[in-house]
Amino acid sequence: MTTGKKASGERERVVLAYSGGLDTSVAIRWLHDKYDLDVIAVAVNVGQPDNEDDIIARAMAIGAIKAEYVDAREEFVTDYIWPSLKANAMYQGVYPLSTAVARPVIIKKLVEIAKREGAAYIAHGCTAKGNDQVRFDVGIMSLGPELKIIAPMRDWVMTREEAVEYARANNLPIALKKKSPYSIDENLWGRSCECGPLEDPWMEPPEDSCDWTARPEDAPDEPEYLEITFERGIPVGYNGKEMGGVALITELNRIASRHGIGRIDHVEDRLIGVKSRETYECPAAVMLIAAHRDMEFLTVEKDVLEFKRGVEQKYSELVYNGLWFGALRESLDRFIDDTQKFVTGTVRLKLFKGSAAAVGRRSDYSLYEEGLSTYSEGDSFDHASAVGFIYCWGLPNRTAAKAHKKSKR
Ligand code: ARG
Repeated sequence: MTTGKKASGERERVVLAYSGGLDTSVAIRWLHDKYDLDVIAVAVNVGQPDNEDDIIARAMAIGAIKAEYVDAREEFVTDYIWPSLKANAMYQGVYPLSTAVARPVIIKKLVEIAKREGAAYIAHGCTAKGNDQVRFDVGIMSLGPELKIIAPMRDWVMTREEAVEYARANNLPIALKKKSPYSIDENLWGRSCECGPLEDPWMEPPEDSCDWTARPEDAPDEPEYLEITFERGIPVGYNGKEMGGVALITELNRIASRHGIGRIDHVEDRLIGVKSRETYECPAAVMLIAAHRDMEFLTVEKDVLEFKRGVEQKYSELVYNGLWFGALRESLDRFIDDTQKFVTGTVRLKLFKGSAAAVGRRSDYSLYEEGLSTYSEGDSFDHASAVGFIYCWGLPNRTAAKAHKKSKR
């Protein structure tokens, strides 16, 4: 790609999604040297454990003309996590999409800043083998179709050793942490881990691949009960305490981690057609999805629930596949929101050695009618109606059975 200068002779600008790590640090210098661009480094806080001052200082020391740290946690929860929770979004039924659902909010911030700064380019550190490159590229195209995209790690396939060498040769102030075999991504909704020993799908994930959660076998021997309150499908507090989303998820991650909840081991199908073994720790996400589904069982009609299951699967796939900023996701969100009108009430969870099981639920909009359910006194179900109903319900089967008996087959 030829970049060049503006007519005024000034350098063009690029907004780089900066994490402070080795690859994107190398990218700052590389974008400057190879593409002749002024780099604006942007780190977006979605709940990962960063040191804001270090990140900004490092970006500037390497040669960015500006560095920004954007706190997007509130927006991440309200506009991305809560919609996914209402969709009970789990890719392939197991992965709560913690990495996938954070990408769109990061992209939104990058595009906003690119527009504000008059940048013609956005750069990101994704490689050519993952899903994240698709999410970044398609997200950027959707929000800023005029922006050009550079992915240095995809264009220049660098081994870790080469990146370290480049940093050394260029005197870049890189904080080289002790070498971890894993590639890790963290945010409020979970922690993803891949590479190293995890690449053998037969091998149990080594304990050092986990960081957030206790081993279920080391978790407390006594269960802990936790009540989660929902309003229209959104959790608003626990154990009677009302809380904002960021604080609530942070707190629930802490509680569920102690009980070893939310460990996931998944051989997953990436969009690019590769199967990949990845592990996740998503304590709050797993707990909240379990509670939310349970609240829906109590308050949502059977046919709506059944139809919504299909919608949930489609929703999970399109979030995974990088289509957050598309018309279908927006339409599905409107449908899902409509299903949540009465998903208000409280679910009681029992946390014990890796599991979060719903053991109680109540709602002012409960569709559970004791008179209809009970086998004891106070039964209001019309028993005689069952016979007529079953006559009609089974009629196609009876008719077919008779007809087939007559036929020669
Ligand atoms: N496979 C997951 C996804 O595509 C997680 C990717 C996480 N990235 C990482 N560097 N570990 O959403």
